[in-house]
Amino acid sequence: MLSDQSRPVIEATLPVVGEHIGEIASRFYEHLFAEHPELLDGTFNRGNQADGSQQRALAGSVAAFASMLINSADTMPEKLLRRIAHKHASLGIRPEQYQVVHDNLMWAIVDVLGEAVTPEVAAAWDEVYWLMANALINQERGLYSARGVRPETVWRPWRVEKKIQETADVVTFVVERMDDRLVKTSLPGQYVSVLMPMTDGVRQPRQYSLTRADDGRHRQFSVKRVEGDGKPDGEMSTLLCDTIGVGDVVTTSLPFGDVVLDDAGRPVVFASAGIGITPMAGMLSHLVAADSGLDITVLHADADEASFALRRQVVGDVLAARNASIHVWYEKGAGSVEPVNGVHAGLMDLSEVTLPDDALYYLCGPLPFMQAVRSSLIERGVEPRDIQYEVFGPDLWQADLD
Ligand SMILES: Cc1cc2nc3c(=O)[nH]c(=O)nc-3n(C[C@H](O)[C@H](O)[C@H](O)COP(=O)(O)OP(=O)(O)OC[C@H]3O[C@@H](n4cnc5c(N)ncnc54)[C@H](O)[C@@H]3O)c2cc1C
Ligand code: HEM
Repeated sequence: MLSDQSRPVIEATLPVVGEHIGEIASRFYEHLFAEHPELLDGTFNRGNQADGSQQRALAGSVAAFASMLINSADTMPEKLLRRIAHKHASLGIRPEQYQVVHDNLMWAIVDVLGEAVTPEVAAAWDEVYWLMANALINQERGLYSARGVRPETVWRPWRVEKKIQETADVVTFVVERMDDRLVKTSLPGQYVSVLMPMTDGVRQPRQYSLTRADDGRHRQFSVKRVEGDGKPDGEMSTLLCDTIGVGDVVTTSLPFGDVVLDDAGRPVVFASAGIGITPMAGMLSHLVAADSGLDITVLHADADEASFALRRQVVGDVLAARNASIHVWYEKGAGSVEPVNGVHAGLMDLSEVTLPDDALYYLCGPLPFMQAVRSSLIERGVEPRDIQYEVFGPDLWQADLD
């Protein structure tokens, strides 16, 4: 909780910091990378830096945290912190790096706000930073220790055993472990960070959801090629789709991720679009492997059936599950050769299906898709706490919701 001295200072300066937070975040990253260029090799995602999304995510999270301290002093933005901690842990972030981020963030605040940052203001924001940092450090420590690792040892080499062309632009990798160190199996819905040298030799991390329940020796993930459309093509997805093949070694982190299947025994509904099928396929596969009798509804939207990645696995799992159904929506028309329960034309429309009572919902796909589905569920009376979602990039939505 914020001290009595700092509270009025934060209250008074939050509007001005909030107004300039985007500028503070981009100055912060410029300064951080100038002082610590090693962070661009293997830690930060330079695609997210180039399109500005990471700057906005950092700024949004700090602003949301500070407002929470002012407006509801006894609560923490749990979901926001959990998501960040899992992402950090999947990248092997270390507690001592928080001092480095602190020094550069405070530098950026002074650089942007100038003389407005009196010693009193600096001390109050210092307190906000360390409240947030310590909450994250503690969660990350718990995540590492639950897996019996240190930040430096989250990475493992895996050999590509199979590379499967799912659709024109999605490839599935089945990788096999190369050592006998303890590897905890993933929870349903989790992802790994994949770390690879890019064409210029600089190592880059990206996250990929696990698409099948793992057996301890194998992992499966599926990658969609990101086309630049005038901007640069996605570098990791292009490398994985075009260059990496059977026999090659890929480095991946242990599994992390806070959007995981709840084992409360309530019906589950998976709603995905496009490559957003990946965490859903992983969760469904876990349910089938566990011979769960849960009531499962799979809802998936895609351009057409040929674009539906992991289709054979997902439809096979729905048939294998004791109590599951699947509906698909195809923008190019309602044609399907698969034994699905319903095929619809156009975008996903929840009024076209009957949803189970008291279900838990899991969403993944482009942000506008998830926003539309979430709003439609809330309109139907679903509680926001029963809807979880995974964002394939820095989460620019959570800060507004938490
Ligand atoms: C939790 C999580 C789970 C995920 N799961 C999956 C999954 O299962 N499958 C999957 O395919 N993806 C998944 N992703 C997304 C994945 O991590 C990558 O973001 C994706 O593969 C793109 O990476 P890339 O290196 O190919 O693209 P990047 O090189 O990072 O490019 C990303 C975007 O930035 C643009 N860009 C790059 N450089 C510049 C520049 N200089 N100027 C302007 N714009 C630029 C590119 O054009 C592109 O649009 C997941 C992400 C998260 C966070
Ligand atoms: C209080 C301090 C910090 C805050 C508030 C913070 C906040 C965030 C947020 C909001 C994200 C995006 C999460 C998402 O994917 O939605 C993130 C990702 C990340 N953070 Fe932090 N962070 C902090 C400290 C650190 C430290 C100390 C490091 C180590 C150098 C670090 C490195 C990273 C990296 C590498 C990513 C992933 C970036 C990307 O994928 O683009 N962070 N952080």
